Order: sequence, then structure tokens, then C-alpha cells
Amino acid sequence: MRHNTINRTGPLGPLFILSTLGFLTACTDAASADKASPEAPADTAFSSAHGYEVDGQPTDIKIWPKLTLPHQGDAALEQRVEQLLATMTLEQKVAQMIQPEIRDITVEDMRRYGFGSYLNGGGSYPHNNKHATPEEWINLAEAMYQASMDDSQDGIAIPTMWGTDAVHGHNNVIGATLFPHNIGLGAARNPELIEKIAAATAREVMATGIDWVFAPTVAVARDDRWGRTYESYSEDPAVVRDYSRAIVEGLQGAADKDFLSEQRVIATVKHFLGDGGTEGGDDQGDALASERELFEIHGQGYVGGLEAGAQTVMASFNSWHGVKNHGNPYLLTDVLKTRMGFDGLVVGDWNGHGQIPGCSNESCPQAINAGLDIFMVPTDAWKPLYHNTIAQVRDGTIPQSRIDDAVARILRVKFRAGLFDKPSPANRPLSGKTALIGHPDHRAIAREAVRESLVLLKNDGNLLPLMPGQTLLIAGDGADNIGKQSGGWSITWQGTGNQNHEFPGATSIYAGIADTVKSAGGRAVLSADGSWDEPTLPDAAIVVFGEDPYAEGNGDLDNLEYQRGNKRDLALLNRLKAQGIPVISVFISGRPLWINPELNASDAFVAAWLPGTEGAGVADVLFRDADGQVRHDFTGTLPFSWPASPQQARVNFQDADVKPLLPYGFGLKAGEPSTLAGNLSEDNGLSQLKVTSQTLFAQAVKAPWHMMMGAQLGEQQTQQTVSSSIQSNDVVTLKSADRDVQEDVRTVAFNGQGRGWVGLQGNFPEDLRAYLEADSALSIELHSADAIESPLFLTMACEGQCQGKVALHEALNRLEQQWGTVSVDLRCFAQQGVNFAKITAPVALETEARMQIDFGKITLVPGGAAEATLRCPDA
Ligand code: BGC
Ligand code: BGC
Repeated sequence: MRHNTINRTGPLGPLFILSTLGFLTACTDAASADKASPEAPADTAFSSAHGYEVDGQPTDIKIWPKLTLPHQGDAALEQRVEQLLATMTLEQKVAQMIQPEIRDITVEDMRRYGFGSYLNGGGSYPHNNKHATPEEWINLAEAMYQASMDDSQDGIAIPTMWGTDAVHGHNNVIGATLFPHNIGLGAARNPELIEKIAAATAREVMATGIDWVFAPTVAVARDDRWGRTYESYSEDPAVVRDYSRAIVEGLQGAADKDFLSEQRVIATVKHFLGDGGTEGGDDQGDALASERELFEIHGQGYVGGLEAGAQTVMASFNSWHGVKNHGNPYLLTDVLKTRMGFDGLVVGDWNGHGQIPGCSNESCPQAINAGLDIFMVPTDAWKPLYHNTIAQVRDGTIPQSRIDDAVARILRVKFRAGLFDKPSPANRPLSGKTALIGHPDHRAIAREAVRESLVLLKNDGNLLPLMPGQTLLIAGDGADNIGKQSGGWSITWQGTGNQNHEFPGATSIYAGIADTVKSAGGRAVLSADGSWDEPTLPDAAIVVFGEDPYAEGNGDLDNLEYQRGNKRDLALLNRLKAQGIPVISVFISGRPLWINPELNASDAFVAAWLPGTEGAGVADVLFRDADGQVRHDFTGTLPFSWPASPQQARVNFQDADVKPLLPYGFGLKAGEPSTLAGNLSEDNGLSQLKVTSQTLFAQAVKAPWHMMMGAQLGEQQTQQTVSSSIQSNDVVTLKSADRDVQEDVRTVAFNGQGRGWVGLQGNFPEDLRAYLEADSALSIELHSADAIESPLFLTMACEGQCQGKVALHEALNRLEQQWGTVSVDLRCFAQQGVNFAKITAPVALETEARMQIDFGKITLVPGGAAEATLRCPDA
């Protein structure tokens, strides 16, 4: 394990580990950034002169450029900042640094405390109403603003600001235009288009009275197993840099034009720094890049974005060489603020400060001392955090100068954004112009982006573009599914649980095809499962399939095999192929995946990424016009190298030694011959692999499993797929809860009215013999707040109703109400007759009694049997 390997070296040599150093760090005051270090007292100020070590190597601040940033040094503005700051109490200052979430504060809280900003998270809406109207969004913005301007309780009037994740359009608002996710935009290689998208997004956001957008994400994803790969434009840092510049200009207006005018919102370049470079593509994980790579790869988006005038930067959840960025003074203060010259504000990410060793969501002076200016503090942690921070300034843990610097930065951004001079949210020029939400002009831009994002991977016999006047079968579960084509961060955080009608004004891929084909006199027949009962076969089949939506760590994968252990879509493609129907695959995905079998089964193959609400853009490119002319040729090229095997997850064009299936930049045009063979290897390589531990559940269920819950009341048995973060049946209530990161554990309450269970199942039996042979244990993180008196079982099931169970409650009680891991030797199940060649449900928790327990990570651990908590008699 690498931990805390950044050391500060000073005159006394390596002194302390960085993460414990927070309390020593004073700020480098923005206003005095250029004169800072020499005069600063050596023991209270961090300056690059002291130096740091990363894994035994001294850091080198000269790797980072001194940027020339617009709008700096405006004396009149700085004077306004200073004057206002001089009138503020400590309480008022700290309130500027607290950013709560709309689910956790009331307008009265805003009046009382005067928070500097607030946010709505993914899938969070006014009054918790998914269908809140634009008027309701504005009303909330107006009420919060008026409360912040009401000085009757706190004696001060500073306009608050509302931040939202408009990461592919104003994605929490019903009816908004949803643009392709970043990965698709990366395929377009068109910064002008990106700027138009950002400007349209700004207008839709302004229509709801919101000031600030948490975009662009400028991660350069290096490992495609990362669940946020689709939020990354490209593996090429140059593309990310140019796009960052363009999107910031589109959101905020160009620095020399209508910068932060009434048509514009404040942008955030995120997540600083190295979010796309973590080991194993682990979300919120540890990046081990060298400092030079950190700048040359992961830092490029900041060069583009800051030079364009981005006013805010969001700190990342990830660590760099074991040190959490939220608590890293070298990166936040020395590199970003002092060296690169950023004088805007650094906002934290969703309780990210609480992950710093020694911190909690409720208390974290280390983050402020490292250079964080605003705590993003959803949940009810905001109140203790506010009081603790005030106390920490009073007792000297946080220097007053650091608070003054942070608040000066916040005020500076507010002055630049004109918040003190603008009318209130309800009275701004674009407010309430509900016609802007999903405006046809914006949809046209999105549709253009969809066209440019498509990458043609295979086109045997020049099948594409098709003639429209034919009879076509449109199959696949993605064909008429706007939620699926939009991906995560679409109305809901995970992008799941949405129906087509919840995207008013949007067009599914099928609808776009049907429209094109019909107007040319052809027929498009929708049949998701591909069944066809007409006597004459269709001329061709277009099959739309791919990944279901996910966001953040829920999308992390162990390897890149598509539909591992459950090749449903391949079966469909093969069935059509066997009938002699030409097959065109349209693949919806947030990243390149290993799809050799699906490529083999397709005559033509289009990577469509996550196109968003304007599915018609797909048909624009798939079809010629009625005269056979190409209307819109394929122009998209791969923004990420396409892997040659499921294990080839860290495949990037800069690495000469790894050969992908298709290189970065690949993309056929109409009429160009296919280069892919029809018989790509279909060996997923797993049999040659040493058995390694398999995660079944960690924040989310890992493929090929899904979560189910069931109840048995008397004779009657029911079971359902778990599809939301809180779900009940007659016996069980299952809820997502937070342990280390958001929604990483589940709380199960059994009411004792019957037999209840929660567990993982696959669609097809899985062969887990290798785990049994490797003396593995099934391990599960468990917790219960009370001692459990009645039996709680861990069960494993195989095909044909076979089952084995082990009682868990005594082992659970031995954890003494703390979180811990309970593991079971797999042989315990084998001895009860469980057939490991055909496992249908690798784990379920089951009881008839009333109890409440929490569970976290579930893993198969090779070699774990010997040490298992529960072993079996003759094992
Ligand atoms: C994400 C950020 C996002 C924030 C607010 C976090 O978990 O990492 O990208 O801006 O939530 O929703
Ligand atoms: C919340 C979302 C939020 C996300 C940030 C989740 O727990 O429900 O609203 O955007 O965390 O990661």
C-alpha cells in the first residue's frame, strides 16, 4: 500500500507527511501571490521554496507553467472585495465557504446563515419533485437569493449563488436538451461545436435562474474501466485542453467579449487533479502519475480552461501518491494558485473533505488549510461543519488569513459575475423564458453533435449508409430507449429509472430512423427482441444495444468485456445473422469495450457513445437520401484507443508497446473499405488468467450480476429486481446508504412478517469452479447496530433449485456492532451440494426474523478459505 508518501522537506529534512500537515499551512494570499514566499514566516507558510517529496523525489514546481490569466489585477474590483471583506464577521465569512444541498436546507436556513452558495446534486430537484417545472426552479432560486439578501437576521446582504451539474446540457431538468456525453464530443474533434453546445447549455441554465455550472470535466481518462470515462473527452490531453478552452468560453463568454454577461454562467474546471489517472481506473482512487505526467496529461484541461478565464476549479476525490487532493496544499495552493496564478475559487466535491485522514464530513480544517475555499457539504453535515470551522479559526487551527483569502476569492468571483449588480434570479433577461429549455435551436446543435460523434468501426460490403426506402427491422433494447441513449447524469444521477415520456421533445434512435425511412417510402419495424413474423425477411436489421446507464464509481469495471457471462445481445445478432439478414450494430456505450464477438456477428458497426436526447442524429448518418447520395458522411474518429482484449484497459496511443484493436483516431468514411477481419479472436483470455479476486458488489453490483429482493408470506413468494436506491416488498426494505463514499453500502431491514432476502443473481448460470479450486472464500462487509438474536443466513444457489446456506449471525455479533468482514469458505457450500459450474445466485442474505443490517463490499477471494471466519467441518 502506498500511503502519505508526499513529504515536505525543509531545513530539517523530510518533516511530516503531507496529510497531517494541514494545520501548518497558511495561505498564499491571492492578492499577495507574487510576493508571498520570501517574507512569510517559515513555520506557518507553505511555499514552494520548502519543497515536497513525492515517493522520495522532490517535487518540481517549474514543471507547471505560470499562466497569463484574464481579468486579473482589476484594482477597482479588488477594492470592492476588500471593503466588503472588512465589514464581515467570522460567521459571515465561514458561511460563504459552506455549500449545502437543496435537499438539506430551507430558505429559512439561507436567511439565517447566508450561505455563499448552494447546489443541487445529480437527480435533486426543487421540492424533491423530478417533474418540477422551470417556474419552480426559478422560484427556488429567487427565494434563496432573496433570503441571502435579507440582512434582518445576519446583518449582511451578499448574493448567494446556485451551482448545478449541467454536464451534458441542463441534465437535471425535464425537457432540457441533452447533448452527447463528453466522450462522443471527443469523437467530433470540433471545438467550435463544443463552444456552441456550452453556450446553449448556459442559456437553458439561465432560464431556470441558476448561476453556476459544475462543468467541464477535463479528466483525461487513461483506464477505460473507470466509470467516468464517458465524462472524459479523450485520452489525448491536447483535445481536452482545446475543448476546455472552448467550453469555458461557451459557458462564461470569451474573456474579451461578453464575459459573464447576462447570457452566461460561471464554469468549473473539474476535478483537480488526476481523476482520470487512478490505478485500475478506480473512481476516487489513487493516481500514481509522475509530476510531469500529472501536468502533461492530466493538467492540460486546466491550461485551456484557466486561460479562457474559468472562475472556479473543483477539487477531486482522488489521491495523488496516497494523499487526498482535497488536503494537498502543494497541488491546491502551490501549483494551482501560486504558480499557475489562479485567483478564482476552489470548491470541494461532495463531502470529499471528509475523506482526508483525520477529517470527517463535519470537521476538516486540513482542507481549508490546504487551499480549499468552499466545502461542498451535502447532507446535514453542513451545520456541524459550519460551527466547527468557526471554532477552528478562533483557536488558531485555521489561520484568519486563510479564511480571508478564501472569502476574497469567493467575493471576487461574485463581483466578476456581476451578482451584486444583476437583478434577482427571477428578473434576469433569460429567467422564465421556458421556451429556451429544449429550444429547437439547441436541439439542432445537439443533433449535429450526434452526427459528428458517430464512429464507423466496420462496414463490410459498404452496407452503410443505407438506402432509406427499404424494409428494416429495428431491434435491441436501446432502439427506443431515450434513457439508455442518454446515459448517467440524465434527469437522475445514475440515469436509471427514466421513461421515454420523461424526455419531452426528445427523439429516440428508433424514432429518428422511422421518420427517415417512412418519408422515403420504406418501413422501419420496431421489435426489441428481434422477432419477425412476416413471410419476407427485412432488407437489413439495425440493432441498437449497449451499456445501461451509470454514474461515477457505479460504472467501474473489473475488465472490459461487454456482457461478460451474459451475451444476450450477441445471441440476438447471431440469430439475425443466421437468418441471412444483414446486421448493422449501433453500440451505445460510455467507453470502448471488448466486443470482438459482437463485431464478428455484425456486417457494419457504429460506436454511438451516449448521444443524448437527439437520437435523430443517428439516422441522419445511417441513411443516404432518396437519390442514393450520402447526406452526412461519418466524420467521427475514436477519442480513445479500442481494446484488443478485456484486459487491455490501459491502452493509450502514447504507449507504443500496446497494440489496440483499433487505434486512437480510427474511423471509416462511407465507401472506405473495412479493415477489421470477420473472425476476430473471441477468447476473452480469462482461462489463461490466474484466478484473481472477483468483486460482486462494491457501491454497485458488478456484471454479470444484478440485485434482487424477495419475500415469502405463507405460500406466496415474490421477487423483484432492485432498481432504485430505496425499495420495499412485504418483508424487506432495502436502502442505499453512505459509508466511505456516496451510496456505497446498503441497509436491509427485515420486518419479521415472513421470510425475506436480498441477494445477487445472474441471468445465466456462471461457472465459478475456478474459485472453488483456488480455495476461495466469499467475503462480505457487514455491520449491525444491535446484537442479532435470530438466524441470519448467507445462501448460495445454483441451477435447478440447488442451494447451500451458512448461518452468519454469530460471526456478525462478534464484530460488536462495528463494521467488519465476515468470510465463508466456499467448500461449506460445495459440501451441501452446490454445483459451482452453474451458480445462479452467488450470495443472498436471508432471514425470517426482524432485524436490520448493513452490507458493503462482497468479494470472492482466492486463497481466502484458510483464513475464513466460517470454515466447514472437514474442510
Ligand atoms: C461529482 C461531481 C459533481 C458533484 C455534485 C460529485 O460526486 O464527483 O462531479 O459535481 O457530485 O453533484
Ligand atoms: C446523490 C446525488 C449526487 C451524488 C454525487 C448521490 O448520493 O444522490 O444527488 O449528485 O451523490 O456524487
